[in-house]
Amino acid sequence: EKGNFEHYMLKEIFEQPKTILDCMRGRLLAEEGKVRLGGLREYIDQLCNAKRIIIIACGTSLNAGMVARYLFQEICRIPVEVEFASEFRYGSPVIRDGDVVVAISQSGETADTLVAIEKAKEMGAIILGICNVVGSSIPRASHAGVYTHAGAEIGVASTKAFTAQLTVLYLIALQVAKEKGTLDNEKYRSLLNELDQIPSKVQTILDNSYLTQSLASLYLDATSMIYLGRGYNFPIALEGALKIKEISYIHAEGYPAAEMKHGPIALIDEEMPVLFIAPKDHTYEKVVSNIQEVKARKGKVIAIVTEGDVVIKSLADHVFEIPETDEILTPLLTVIPLQLFAYYTGVLRGCNVDQPRNLAKSVTVE
Ligand code: F6R
Repeated sequence: EKGNFEHYMLKEIFEQPKTILDCMRGRLLAEEGKVRLGGLREYIDQLCNAKRIIIIACGTSLNAGMVARYLFQEICRIPVEVEFASEFRYGSPVIRDGDVVVAISQSGETADTLVAIEKAKEMGAIILGICNVVGSSIPRASHAGVYTHAGAEIGVASTKAFTAQLTVLYLIALQVAKEKGTLDNEKYRSLLNELDQIPSKVQTILDNSYLTQSLASLYLDATSMIYLGRGYNFPIALEGALKIKEISYIHAEGYPAAEMKHGPIALIDEEMPVLFIAPKDHTYEKVVSNIQEVKARKGKVIAIVTEGDVVIKSLADHVFEIPETDEILTPLLTVIPLQLFAYYTGVLRGCNVDQPRNLAKSVTVE
C-alpha cells in the first residue's frame, strides 16, 4: 500500500531509515562491538581467507557491488573484481582456489546473474548471495548468503533495496575486517557507531526533500546530465545517472570525476548540468578542482556536500547538504538526494515513475 504517498517510489525512498534499521537489526551490535551475520556462519572462514572476491550483479545491484570494491579492499585488504553479470559467463572467466563470488540481486531472479552463478559454481567457486526476495532463485543457487530485509520493493527503479544491499555489504566487510584484524580496533568501533547512526541521518536528508524538489524544477528541461564522484562516491555517480535515466528519461552519464577531462568535458556548456557527489573525504581537494574545471566552461554545478562546507558552496550553483559521517559510509547518505532528485524530475516531466517505459521489475531473460 502506498499510504499517504503519491507513488511507491517515493514511499520506498522515505522508508529507508526503517529498512536500513531492519537490515541491521540483530546483526549490528554496536554497544558490544560485534557484527553477527547468521547466514554467513559456515562460510565466514572462506571469506576471511579469500584471495579474491568477484562481485557479479546488474544495474543498481552492480553499483552497490562497486561500492563494495573500495570497501573490501580498504578495510579487509582483499582484492575485488566487479563484473557485469551478463559479461561474466561469456568472458572466459578465470576462477582460482580461494576465489569467493558474491552475487547481489534485489529480485533474486535476474537471469544474467543466475547464469553467471551457475558458471562460477561449475568452476568451483563458493557463491554468496545478497538478495532481497526470500526464497528466490539466486539464494537457492548460492552456498550461503544474507538477506537484505528491505521488504517488497514495488517501484521498478530500485531505491530502498540499494541502501539495504550497501548495509549488508558494510556489515560483511566489518565482520571480516574484525576477524582478519585488518582494521584497528578504534576505527572498527567508530565505524560500527557511525553505521548505527545512519538511519537518523537518512531521516535528516528526507526532512529536506523539498530542496531536491525545487532543484528538480530548475533542471527539468535538461536534455543531458553528467554525474561525477570519486572513490566511494564514483559508484553513486553511476547510480544517480541510472536513476535519472530510468525515471525521467533524461540522458545522463556517470563518471569518475577525474575522467571527465579525458573526454566528457567536451560536452560541457551553459546548458549542461553537472552533479558532483562531493562530501568531505580524502579526494575532496581534487573534486574541488574538477568543479572549477566545469565552472570555467560555464557548466551548471549541483553538488552534494557535507554540512558546513564552504569551498564548494562558493563555487557551485546549488548545493545539497548531507550530515557528516565516516567517508567510508557516505554512499548511504549521498544516494538519497539523488533518488529524490530523479523522482521529482520524473514527476514534473509527467513520467510514470513507478512503471517506467520498457522496464520490468525482474529481468528473467539473458
Ligand atoms: C535499477 C534497476 C535495475 C536492477 C537490475 C538488477 O533501478 O532496478 O537496474 O537493479 O535489473 O536487478 P536485481 O537486483 O533484481 O538482480
